[in-house]
Amino acid sequence: MRKNIAAGNWKMFKDAASANELFEKLIATEIPENVITVIAPPFIYLKEFVQKASSKDRFLIAAQNCHHATEGAYTGEVSAMMLKSINIPYVIIGHSERREQHAESNEMLKMKVLEALNYGLNPIFCCGEPLEIRKREEHISFVTKQITESLGTLNHDQISQIVIAYEPIWAIGTGETASPEQAQEMHEAIRNHISSLFTEEIANNMSILYGGSVKASNANEIFSKPDVDGGLVGGAALDADSFIKIINSFR
Ligand code: 13P
Repeated sequence: MRKNIAAGNWKMFKDAASANELFEKLIATEIPENVITVIAPPFIYLKEFVQKASSKDRFLIAAQNCHHATEGAYTGEVSAMMLKSINIPYVIIGHSERREQHAESNEMLKMKVLEALNYGLNPIFCCGEPLEIRKREEHISFVTKQITESLGTLNHDQISQIVIAYEPIWAIGTGETASPEQAQEMHEAIRNHISSLFTEEIANNMSILYGGSVKASNANEIFSKPDVDGGLVGGAALDADSFIKIINSFR
Protein backbone atom coordinates (compact mmCIF):
# COMPACT_ATOMS: atom_id res chain seq x y z
CA MET A 1 0.00 0.00 0.00
CA ARG A 2 1.20 3.46 -0.92
CA LYS A 3 2.11 5.39 2.22
CA ASN A 4 2.78 9.02 3.03
CA ILE A 5 6.27 9.15 4.48
CA ALA A 6 8.13 11.99 6.18
CA ALA A 7 11.72 10.80 6.47
CA GLY A 8 14.56 12.67 8.15
CA ASN A 9 18.12 11.92 7.09
CA TRP A 10 20.34 13.30 9.83
CA LYS A 11 23.52 12.56 7.82
CA MET A 12 26.63 13.01 10.02
CA PHE A 13 25.19 15.63 12.37
CA LYS A 14 24.69 15.86 16.14
CA ASP A 15 26.58 14.60 19.16
CA ALA A 16 24.83 12.23 21.57
CA ALA A 17 23.28 14.92 23.75
CA SER A 18 21.80 16.94 20.89
CA ALA A 19 20.72 13.80 19.00
CA ASN A 20 18.83 12.64 22.09
CA GLU A 21 17.26 16.02 22.60
CA LEU A 22 15.95 16.08 19.03
CA PHE A 23 14.80 12.46 19.20
CA GLU A 24 12.89 13.00 22.45
CA LYS A 25 11.01 15.95 20.95
CA LEU A 26 10.12 13.97 17.84
CA ILE A 27 8.98 10.86 19.65
CA ALA A 28 6.75 12.97 21.88
CA THR A 29 4.95 14.29 18.80
CA GLU A 30 1.63 12.96 17.65
CA ILE A 31 2.04 11.48 14.18
CA PRO A 32 -1.03 11.96 11.93
CA GLU A 33 -2.88 8.72 11.10
CA ASN A 34 -2.04 8.99 7.41
CA VAL A 35 1.73 9.50 7.88
CA ILE A 36 4.70 7.31 8.61
CA THR A 37 7.69 9.09 10.10
CA VAL A 38 11.13 7.63 9.48
CA ILE A 39 14.24 8.89 11.25
CA ALA A 40 17.71 8.01 9.93
CA PRO A 41 20.26 8.99 12.59
CA PRO A 42 23.98 8.11 12.50
CA PHE A 43 24.68 4.42 13.17
CA ILE A 44 25.89 4.99 16.71
CA TYR A 45 22.40 6.04 17.86
CA LEU A 46 20.39 3.35 16.05
CA LYS A 47 20.12 0.73 18.77
CA GLU A 48 18.92 3.11 21.45
CA PHE A 49 16.49 4.89 19.15
CA VAL A 50 14.96 1.73 17.71
CA GLN A 51 14.27 0.45 21.22
CA LYS A 52 12.66 3.73 22.25
CA ALA A 53 10.60 3.87 19.05
CA SER A 54 9.33 0.29 19.34
CA SER A 55 6.18 1.21 21.22
CA LYS A 56 5.26 4.19 19.05
CA ASP A 57 3.04 3.73 16.02
CA ARG A 58 4.08 5.07 12.61
CA PHE A 59 7.49 6.11 13.91
CA LEU A 60 10.27 4.03 12.39
CA ILE A 61 14.04 4.07 12.32
CA ALA A 62 16.33 3.79 9.29
CA ALA A 63 20.05 3.30 8.80
CA GLN A 64 21.75 5.62 6.32
CA ASN A 65 23.64 2.86 4.52
CA CYS A 66 24.59 -0.81 4.67
CA HIS A 67 27.35 -2.91 3.16
CA HIS A 68 26.71 -5.32 0.29
CA ALA A 69 28.25 -8.27 2.15
CA THR A 70 26.84 -10.06 5.18
CA GLU A 71 30.06 -10.30 7.17
CA GLY A 72 33.75 -9.99 6.45
CA ALA A 73 36.97 -8.03 6.72
CA TYR A 74 35.42 -4.63 5.93
CA THR A 75 36.73 -2.26 8.58
CA GLY A 76 34.27 0.46 9.50
CA GLU A 77 31.30 -1.03 7.68
CA VAL A 78 27.89 -2.21 8.93
CA SER A 79 25.85 -4.97 7.31
CA ALA A 80 22.13 -5.46 6.70
CA MET A 81 22.32 -8.60 8.84
CA MET A 82 23.51 -6.48 11.79
CA LEU A 83 20.79 -3.88 11.24
CA LYS A 84 18.16 -6.60 11.14
CA SER A 85 19.52 -8.12 14.34
CA ILE A 86 18.61 -4.92 16.20
CA ASN A 87 15.22 -4.66 14.42
CA ILE A 88 15.94 -1.72 12.12
CA PRO A 89 13.17 -1.69 9.49
CA TYR A 90 14.49 0.72 6.83
CA VAL A 91 17.84 1.48 5.20
CA ILE A 92 18.72 4.35 2.88
CA ILE A 93 20.65 3.01 -0.10
CA GLY A 94 22.35 5.02 -2.83
CA HIS A 95 22.24 8.51 -1.40
CA SER A 96 24.05 10.83 -3.83
CA GLU A 97 26.60 11.69 -1.14
CA ARG A 98 27.56 8.02 -0.92
CA ARG A 99 27.49 7.62 -4.70
CA GLU A 100 29.91 10.57 -5.00
CA GLN A 101 32.09 10.26 -1.91
CA HIS A 102 32.30 6.46 -1.84
CA ALA A 103 32.07 5.76 -5.57
CA GLU A 104 28.92 3.65 -5.20
CA SER A 105 27.90 2.51 -8.68
CA ASN A 106 24.46 1.38 -9.82
CA GLU A 107 25.84 -2.17 -9.85
CA MET A 108 27.14 -1.89 -6.26
CA LEU A 109 23.78 -0.45 -5.15
CA LYS A 110 22.00 -3.38 -6.74
CA MET A 111 24.05 -5.67 -4.48
CA LYS A 112 23.24 -3.57 -1.42
CA VAL A 113 19.52 -3.55 -2.22
CA LEU A 114 19.54 -7.35 -2.57
CA GLU A 115 21.44 -7.78 0.67
CA ALA A 116 19.02 -5.49 2.53
CA LEU A 117 16.01 -7.32 1.07
CA ASN A 118 17.53 -10.70 2.01
CA TYR A 119 17.43 -9.58 5.62
CA GLY A 120 13.91 -8.19 5.41
CA LEU A 121 14.87 -4.52 5.48
CA ASN A 122 12.96 -1.96 3.39
CA PRO A 123 15.39 -0.04 1.20
CA ILE A 124 14.81 3.68 0.62
CA PHE A 125 16.52 3.77 -2.75
CA CYS A 126 17.83 7.21 -3.74
CA CYS A 127 18.20 8.45 -7.28
CA GLY A 128 18.68 11.86 -8.83
CA GLU A 129 20.59 13.79 -11.45
CA PRO A 130 23.44 16.31 -11.23
CA LEU A 131 22.91 19.86 -12.52
CA GLU A 132 24.65 19.37 -15.87
CA ILE A 133 22.31 16.48 -16.72
CA ARG A 134 19.29 18.62 -15.80
CA LYS A 135 20.61 21.44 -18.00
CA ARG A 136 20.94 19.03 -20.91
CA GLU A 137 17.34 17.92 -20.25
CA GLU A 138 18.47 14.33 -19.84
CA HIS A 139 17.27 14.05 -16.25
CA ILE A 140 14.50 11.54 -16.86
CA SER A 141 16.63 9.09 -18.83
CA PHE A 142 19.44 9.48 -16.26
CA VAL A 143 17.18 8.63 -13.32
CA THR A 144 15.30 5.81 -15.03
CA LYS A 145 18.67 4.25 -15.93
CA GLN A 146 19.72 4.40 -12.27
CA ILE A 147 16.50 2.60 -11.37
CA THR A 148 16.78 -0.01 -14.13
CA GLU A 149 20.39 -0.84 -13.30
CA SER A 150 19.88 -1.16 -9.54
CA LEU A 151 16.30 -2.40 -9.23
CA GLY A 152 15.35 -3.76 -12.67
CA THR A 153 15.96 -7.44 -11.92
CA LEU A 154 14.12 -7.62 -8.60
CA ASN A 155 11.12 -9.91 -8.41
CA HIS A 156 7.65 -8.58 -7.62
CA ASP A 157 7.85 -9.33 -3.90
CA GLN A 158 11.21 -7.59 -3.68
CA ILE A 159 10.28 -4.43 -5.59
CA SER A 160 7.17 -4.10 -3.42
CA GLN A 161 9.43 -3.56 -0.39
CA ILE A 162 11.19 -0.57 -1.96
CA VAL A 163 10.61 3.13 -1.34
CA ILE A 164 12.18 5.41 -3.96
CA ALA A 165 13.53 8.83 -3.03
CA TYR A 166 14.10 11.22 -5.91
CA GLU A 167 16.78 13.68 -4.83
CA PRO A 168 18.09 16.00 -7.57
CA ILE A 169 21.70 16.62 -6.58
CA TRP A 170 21.47 20.32 -7.43
CA ALA A 171 18.72 20.73 -4.82
CA ILE A 172 20.46 18.97 -1.91
CA GLY A 173 21.62 21.35 0.80
CA THR A 174 21.56 24.25 -1.65
CA GLY A 175 18.32 25.91 -0.60
CA GLU A 176 17.19 25.49 -4.19
CA THR A 177 14.24 23.11 -4.37
CA ALA A 178 12.89 21.49 -7.47
CA SER A 179 9.60 23.22 -8.18
CA PRO A 180 6.51 21.14 -7.34
CA GLU A 181 6.02 20.79 -11.11
CA GLN A 182 9.59 19.54 -11.64
CA ALA A 183 9.15 17.05 -8.79
CA GLN A 184 5.80 15.86 -10.16
CA GLU A 185 7.23 15.44 -13.68
CA MET A 186 10.02 13.20 -12.39
CA HIS A 187 7.87 11.27 -9.93
CA GLU A 188 5.34 10.51 -12.63
CA ALA A 189 8.15 9.36 -14.93
CA ILE A 190 9.55 7.14 -12.16
CA ARG A 191 6.11 5.63 -11.50
CA ASN A 192 5.57 4.98 -15.21
CA HIS A 193 9.00 3.40 -15.41
CA ILE A 194 8.27 1.10 -12.46
CA SER A 195 5.00 0.20 -14.14
CA SER A 196 6.79 -0.72 -17.37
CA LEU A 197 9.47 -2.75 -15.55
CA PHE A 198 7.01 -4.48 -13.20
CA THR A 199 3.24 -3.88 -13.05
CA GLU A 200 0.93 -0.89 -12.81
CA GLU A 201 -0.31 -2.14 -9.45
CA ILE A 202 3.23 -2.28 -8.05
CA ALA A 203 3.89 1.23 -9.37
CA ASN A 204 0.68 2.60 -7.88
CA ASN A 205 1.48 1.08 -4.49
CA MET A 206 5.04 2.42 -4.36
CA SER A 207 5.85 5.43 -2.18
CA ILE A 208 8.05 7.89 -4.06
CA LEU A 209 9.62 10.61 -1.90
CA TYR A 210 11.12 13.91 -2.93
CA GLY A 211 14.37 15.14 -1.33
CA GLY A 212 16.29 18.37 -1.78
CA SER A 213 15.78 21.47 0.37
CA VAL A 214 12.37 20.40 1.67
CA LYS A 215 11.39 22.83 4.42
CA ALA A 216 8.36 23.51 6.60
CA SER A 217 7.49 26.35 4.21
CA ASN A 218 7.43 24.31 0.98
CA ALA A 219 6.58 20.75 2.11
CA ASN A 220 2.82 21.05 1.73
CA GLU A 221 3.00 22.33 -1.84
CA ILE A 222 5.43 19.59 -2.90
CA PHE A 223 3.61 16.78 -1.05
CA SER A 224 0.29 17.79 -2.58
CA LYS A 225 1.44 16.71 -6.05
CA PRO A 226 -0.25 13.43 -7.02
CA ASP A 227 2.91 11.35 -7.46
CA VAL A 228 4.82 12.79 -4.48
CA ASP A 229 4.22 10.62 -1.42
CA GLY A 230 6.40 12.54 1.02
CA GLY A 231 9.93 13.71 1.54
CA LEU A 232 13.44 12.66 2.47
CA VAL A 233 14.58 15.68 4.43
CA GLY A 234 18.12 16.68 5.37
CA GLY A 235 18.77 20.05 6.99
CA ALA A 236 15.19 20.75 8.05
CA ALA A 237 15.02 17.37 9.81
CA LEU A 238 17.69 18.51 12.28
CA ASP A 239 15.34 20.97 13.94
CA ALA A 240 12.38 19.51 15.84
CA ASP A 241 9.93 22.34 15.14
CA SER A 242 10.57 22.38 11.41
CA PHE A 243 10.47 18.59 11.04
CA ILE A 244 7.25 18.35 13.06
CA LYS A 245 5.71 20.89 10.69
CA ILE A 246 6.86 18.75 7.75
CA ILE A 247 5.30 15.64 9.35
CA ASN A 248 2.06 17.63 9.46
CA SER A 249 2.28 18.86 5.87
CA PHE A 250 0.20 16.11 4.27
CA ARG A 251 -3.38 16.84 3.36
P1 13P B 1 18.51 18.80 2.33
O1 13P B 1 17.09 18.66 2.79
O2 13P B 1 19.42 19.35 3.39
O3 13P B 1 18.62 19.49 1.02
O4 13P B 1 19.06 17.30 2.09
C1 13P B 1 18.30 16.42 1.35
C2 13P B 1 18.89 15.07 1.49
O5 13P B 1 19.99 14.81 1.03
C3 13P B 1 18.13 14.05 2.23
O6 13P B 1 18.67 12.78 2.07
